[in-house]
Amino acid sequence: MLKNYLVLILIMGFTPLAVNSTSLGENDKSVLEQEAQKRIKEFSSSLKSQLKSAINKGGLSAGVKVCSEQAPQIAEQLSTDGWIVGRTSLRTRNTSNTADQWELKTLADFEKLKQQGIEVNTLTKSSYDEQSFRYMKAIPTGGLCLACHGSTVAPDVKTVIKQYYPLDEAVGFNAGDIRGAFTLVKALQAAN
Ligand code: HEC
Repeated sequence: MLKNYLVLILIMGFTPLAVNSTSLGENDKSVLEQEAQKRIKEFSSSLKSQLKSAINKGGLSAGVKVCSEQAPQIAEQLSTDGWIVGRTSLRTRNTSNTADQWELKTLADFEKLKQQGIEVNTLTKSSYDEQSFRYMKAIPTGGLCLACHGSTVAPDVKTVIKQYYPLDEAVGFNAGDIRGAFTLVKALQAAN
């Protein structure tokens, strides 16, 4: 019921008199979580395939360039219908991915849970208030990632990374580490 109400509000562009945060029912929450997961899947698979084909064609340095252009572009393309899609980390390469308070806390919680033996792949968190629904999903560091985020990044690749990201902090990761997280926000009220 509330879902229909919210959809109606979004369609008609009304600001409701009151949408109580506690009234976001489990159903609506799970619908939002599923939508978040769908957008994350698209982000992840399209970035990975772009990255792989760039590396195959032009090597790792080309990969850096493609990642610097494609990652923000794919994020923007998936930021529709009130959603904002992005990535963040405790150690960022692109400073515009720097975590806010809630993201910092969530990333720290993910680290604790990982230490307790929880699979990085399964770490997610959702939260909401009157204005917005937020969702994060941890990103594990895989073998493919180490060439650009590991401890032994080749000197020529390092040079290109420094050129694009003079403030890069996203190196020194090991396989299995939490590299960062997808982070999504969805506005729950229609914009004024
Ligand atoms: C060819 C080099 C390269 C490889 C390989 C690579 N990355 Fe990145 N990564 C980058 C660049 C460049 C950025 C900055 C993109 C931007 O400007 O948003 C980045 C940014 C990120 C970010 C966003 C947070 C931040 O640090 O700004 C995450 C998360 C991330 N990478 C995860 C991964 C994972 C997981 C893998 C392996 C599946 C991977 N990367 C493989 C180059 C690479």
